[in-house]
Amino acid sequence: MRITDCRAIVTGAASGLGREFCAGLTGAGATVVAVDKDERGLARLAADLGEAPGDLHTYRLDVTREDEVTAVVAKAFGEWGPIDVLVNSAGIYRDGLLVNSYGGRYAGMPLAQWRTVVDADLTGTFLMSREVCLRMVEQRVRPGVIINISSISRAGNAGQGNYAAAKAGVVAFTRTMALELAPYGIRAAAIAPGFIDTPILAAMDPAKLGEWVDTVPLRRLGTPQEIFAGVRFIIECDYFTGRCLEIDGGLAI
Ligand SMILES: NC(=O)c1ccc[n+]([C@@H]2O[C@H](COP(=O)([O-])OP(=O)(O)OC[C@H]3O[C@@H](n4cnc5c(N)ncnc54)[C@H](O)[C@@H]3O)[C@@H](O)[C@H]2O)c1
Repeated sequence: MRITDCRAIVTGAASGLGREFCAGLTGAGATVVAVDKDERGLARLAADLGEAPGDLHTYRLDVTREDEVTAVVAKAFGEWGPIDVLVNSAGIYRDGLLVNSYGGRYAGMPLAQWRTVVDADLTGTFLMSREVCLRMVEQRVRPGVIINISSISRAGNAGQGNYAAAKAGVVAFTRTMALELAPYGIRAAAIAPGFIDTPILAAMDPAKLGEWVDTVPLRRLGTPQEIFAGVRFIIECDYFTGRCLEIDGGLAI
């Protein structure tokens, strides 16, 4: 697929990776429907990318809300479609141990902490993918490409049970979509970034982050542009489906 001609929906578009994907896609001339629950961030995005060669449309959307997802995807296909690329980048983390100790007492991870992350990172990806793929199939959009942002944490990471499970689920779901949707000309692939310099890392303890960066063979954080290079590759390589690209400076080795 030529990136210059595509019409993409990008979730999590107001910040970090999603914002960079919008910049890269509109910079290449693509039409982008940028969605996020952060309305102010979307307004900043629209102001910053106003001069880009491609068109940008922004829409407030919580990917965990089925009614909102259905309405916005229908609107995107109706007004700016047919959409042929979906990038699911919206995501959060709420780290914690399964069993925590507080001065000799123990407490398990609250169900709400588990659900919040699984809802945003996995169920949101499912809802967006279902609505977009349904219309791609109905409207015979060929080729179509779904790109889901997972994480190297999908292999398991202490303190991230909820996030690791959600991100592993994202890859399993992506592989399943690739199998089910290949007959319709739709590809699905994932990207598992390592530590990338975006606002999501701002909440982390800088000392801890420094220790983690020391474990990266390339000894630095990745940039959002380096993850966009993966998005571009997946869009443009028509023989790539069902796989997860690890862009992590060698961390997962
Ligand atoms: N930055 C990293 O080091 C890193 C590493 C591995 C994976 N990831 C993944 O990459 C993706 C993007 O992360 P980022 O670094 O850009 O983070 P970020 O916090 O900068 O951006 C995430 C965006 O998602 C939006 N969002 C969150 N929940 C939402 C919801 N329910 N509905 C709509 N929008 C929602 C937020 O408002 C925000 O704009 C996430 O899925 C994250 O898990 C990031």
